[in-house]
Formats: sequence, C-alpha cells, structure tokens
Amino acid sequence: MSYSPHDPPTGPAPLRLLFIGDVVGRAGRKALVQHLPRLRRRWSLDFVIVNGENAAGGFGITEAICEEFLEAGADCVTTGNHAFDQREALVFIERQPRLLRPVNYPPGTPGRGANLYAAADGRQILVINVQGRLYMDALDDPFAAIEREVGACPLGVGCDALVVDIHAETSSEKMAMGHFVDGRASLVVGTHTHVPTADCQIMPHGVGYMTDAGMTGDYDSVIGMEKEEPLRRFTRKTPGGRLEPAQGEATLCGVAVEIDARGLARKIAPVRVGGRLAQAAPDFWDGEVNSDRAYGGAMSPAK
Ligand SMILES: [Fe+2]
Ligand SMILES: [Fe+2]
Repeated sequence: MSYSPHDPPTGPAPLRLLFIGDVVGRAGRKALVQHLPRLRRRWSLDFVIVNGENAAGGFGITEAICEEFLEAGADCVTTGNHAFDQREALVFIERQPRLLRPVNYPPGTPGRGANLYAAADGRQILVINVQGRLYMDALDDPFAAIEREVGACPLGVGCDALVVDIHAETSSEKMAMGHFVDGRASLVVGTHTHVPTADCQIMPHGVGYMTDAGMTGDYDSVIGMEKEEPLRRFTRKTPGGRLEPAQGEATLCGVAVEIDARGLARKIAPVRVGGRLAQAAPDFWDGEVNSDRAYGGAMSPAK
C-alpha cells in the first residue's frame, strides 16, 4: 500500500485521468486507435485528453481525425502552434467544443482555449490549453491567461478537476507553470517537444506535473518526422523536400494521474505503450505492467 500526503479522508472514488501527448501522423493515429479503447477499459478511465496538433500528416488536425479520436475514447483534444495548419480547423473548431486551441491566441481567433466537460459520473473537468512564449511565436502572456481561466472556474468551486496542457518549447517555462498553479490545478502537462521527460511528480501543493508527455509517434525519427529531411536541413543550408511523418510503429506516450476529491493529484505515472521506447504504465491501476499479455506483446522490452 502506497502512502500519499494528498489522500483525502473520505469522498467519492478518485478520478482516473489519462493525458496523451502529440499524436504524429498516420503511425501515431494508428497507435492511438489501437491502444486507447483498451486502456480506457482496462484502467476504468474517467477522462482522456489527447493532444492532436500533429495528427494530420504531422501538421494540424482535420474534422474526420478529431472525430476518430473522440470515438476511440478521447473526451477532449488539445492542440498548439499547429492548431490551424489544416485550414478546415478554422471552421469546424467552432462547432466542436471538444477541440481546444491555445487560450492565449489573439482575441477573435476561432474556437476556444478552455472548456468544462462532464465525466460519465457528472464530475466537471476544466481543460485549458495554453502556449508558451520562449522560442515560439509571440502571444499573450500564458501566465496571465491561466490566472484568468483558473480564477473564473476555481478548482473545488467551479470544477472537480483542472488540467493545463502547456504547449511550450522550454522546460523552464513549463516547470514555472506547474508551480504557478500548484494547489490550484490537478495536472499541468507539457507538450510540443515530442520527447517524454522523466520528471513526472506531484508538486508540493498537490498538482500533478510532467514537463513533456512525449509524442505518440514513431521514435525512429526526428521528433516524429522521417530522418532524412531534418538531417539534410541541419547539415546543408539549401531547400529540400517536405517533412513527412515517420511510418514505423508508434509509441503511445502520456501521463496517468489519479485525482482526489479536492481535485489534487494523489498518484501519477508515465505511460508508454508500443513501439521502440521502454514501456511504462501505472502500477497503481493494474499492477501487471510487465506480465501483461493483453497488449498483444506491446509491453515487451523495446525493440
Ligand atoms: Fe507537436
Ligand atoms: Fe507544437
């Protein structure tokens, strides 16, 4: 039995939430559709968030792909700097409340950056998608934007759980965001850098945190793209071909968090299923990570 300083004395069953990092191209979509329905059932997940900003050929998301993710078991799809690479997203985001773009985009940008969703048992989950500013396009202050959204729907008052997807380049900006809302959010998870970090933790005041969830894509690549063109661009300063998603077996990457009645994280673990990376799963939900045959061999050591 594990001890957690954030165990509540009583209350409803903890909320089980899975966040899945940037799905890249066809390989990423295939992994998501293959694994998510099973994970959702096996872990009795209450809520699933998927970052889909690279789902359509590595650039943006289409309405059909968004629907596919929702049917596979996602409750909310977040994005980032690639939100509108597929121009149809400018239109369908207005009629799809489960798709978010960064909240700190300019006023008048189509869609929304935060929304409140109901889990199956009625608990209310606020999801906020925000984009960092370091080494990225100039946008409004992400900290001020988060302060505004958290203030408008405080944890324990306006919602039962509060999740921030901070889509940012630097670990410092993401880590600062974690501390900024520590005690006021359930989970702060970074996206955009496409590599899972090993710093999954519960911060001192109870927010679950991970600097980057990692991508759901083929890791025999340069952050999800076929290696040749990125290598060519790094080594020769002349125009070349298009960036294309790598097509090998993807690793589904993300973070699993259990949230207590106060909306604070009580358990957290990285998730890596399939593909090349060392496999990981929350032992507090099934305890059979290494002997699990239900994954069809996907839980075997990396190949
Ligand atoms: Fe991405
Ligand atoms: Fe990104």
